[in-house]
Amino acid sequence: MNTEERAVLLIVDDNATNLHVLSDVLDDAGFEVRVAQNGEIALQKVEYDPPELILLDVMMPGLNGFDTCERLKANPKTADIPIIFMTALSETVDKVRGLSLGAVDYITKPFQQDEVLARVKTHLQISRLTKSLAEQNVQLKAEVKARVKAEESLKQLMESLERQVEERTKELTLALTNLEQTQLQLVQQEKMASLGQLVAGVAHEINNPVNFIATNLDPAKEYVEELSRIIHLFLECYPDPAIEVAEALAFVDLDYMLADLNKIMEAFQVGANMLTNISRSLRTFSRSDSANPVPANIHDGIDSTLLILGHRFKSHNKRPTIRVLKEYGDLPLVKCYLGQLNQVFINLLANAVDAFDEFFLQGADRAPQIEIRTRVEQDKVFIHIKDNGPGIPDRVKERIFEPSFTTKAVGKGTGLGLSISRKIVEEQHQGKITCTSVVGEGTEFTIELPLLRA
Ligand SMILES: Nc1ncnc2c1ncn2[C@@H]1O[C@H](COP(=O)(O)OP(=O)(O)O)[C@@H](O)[C@H]1O
Ligand SMILES: [Mg+2]
Repeated sequence: MNTEERAVLLIVDDNATNLHVLSDVLDDAGFEVRVAQNGEIALQKVEYDPPELILLDVMMPGLNGFDTCERLKANPKTADIPIIFMTALSETVDKVRGLSLGAVDYITKPFQQDEVLARVKTHLQISRLTKSLAEQNVQLKAEVKARVKAEESLKQLMESLERQVEERTKELTLALTNLEQTQLQLVQQEKMASLGQLVAGVAHEINNPVNFIATNLDPAKEYVEELSRIIHLFLECYPDPAIEVAEALAFVDLDYMLADLNKIMEAFQVGANMLTNISRSLRTFSRSDSANPVPANIHDGIDSTLLILGHRFKSHNKRPTIRVLKEYGDLPLVKCYLGQLNQVFINLLANAVDAFDEFFLQGADRAPQIEIRTRVEQDKVFIHIKDNGPGIPDRVKERIFEPSFTTKAVGKGTGLGLSISRKIVEEQHQGKITCTSVVGEGTEFTIELPLLRA
């Protein structure tokens, strides 16, 4: 035997001599031998304490070997115990039947000791190997199952890790883009603020001289009128003046000069009025916003913006002058940040001018025109800024409000104008800014502001 523990064998035979002989042989060979004289006892013993192998006589009174074998095989607890049938040479038994019932072998009586020992050992070994194989099999199956499970959870872990990495990457990319855009917008806003300060400075500097001219114009006009009246009176009363005076009068066209001086004074008046307007507009444009929205005249804002941008509407060698049509509705004062709204107007108007410049470079043939229309509807103020420029193709229009989106050459456009404008209108004023455009016909931006009546 190749195992330390003594194998337990059960011999079932109704013949006491047989039992005796066989158990002696097997006992001597080192097995632990139990015996049963018939099938019933054998079944009981096996049920109670199963042996490792059974030597089973076929011919027995009562339950014969085949029946006993059948019963043992039918019981799952005993089905795997190897059974060796024993038959006398003289007995004619159906060996095939025995084997088909599940027996592993036959030995014949009278016994050949060596043969019996050899067969018993062989079958014990086979049985033990089979059992250990079965156990290993079960173990292997369990291991395979565990591995599959481990692999599955590893896969899930990997997938969830990949997802997490993907999500984090997405978040970080978004954060980075946001940061870059915020930076760009800050720079842009800083530029606008500097422009505002510059304009405020200029407005302040010209304010005094403008006032100086404007306030002195009226008395100057009066003096001129008075002087010309006195000169005429003089000439009437003294038709023959002294020779020096007559000579001086001969050199000038006094009537023409006096008439023209009046016109010049009128021109001064017009110029001074314009300067006063410009000065006021500059101050309106550069007005820095307070922390809260204040009632303001939107039209003043638009007019001051037009003034600042005025030079850009003028013709140049590639394009004619852009005509600006104003159609102002009857707007009340609107609670807003006018300085910020001016920035929006500047962006929209500058975009229209840029679009015209490009349009005429490509050979446009029409009178360029920008229409600015305002109106009140229910509790909203609408400001329309419409050009008859090139229009915007749909695939561009979808993106114009995106920060950094521009179709202009590097250095020409930042792509921030409309995104900042949208921020100002929608976030600061709870309004709306929309764009409708037809390629080849033009573009219209509409700003909608809730009317917080002042
Ligand atoms: N009136 C317009 N006509 C045609 N295209 C326009 C007009 N206004 C805006 N766009 C388009 O929208 C884009 C984004 O405008 P904006 O945000 O102001 O950035 P930028 O002017 O720096 O390009 C422009 O590059 C241009 O393609
Ligand atoms: Mg722009």
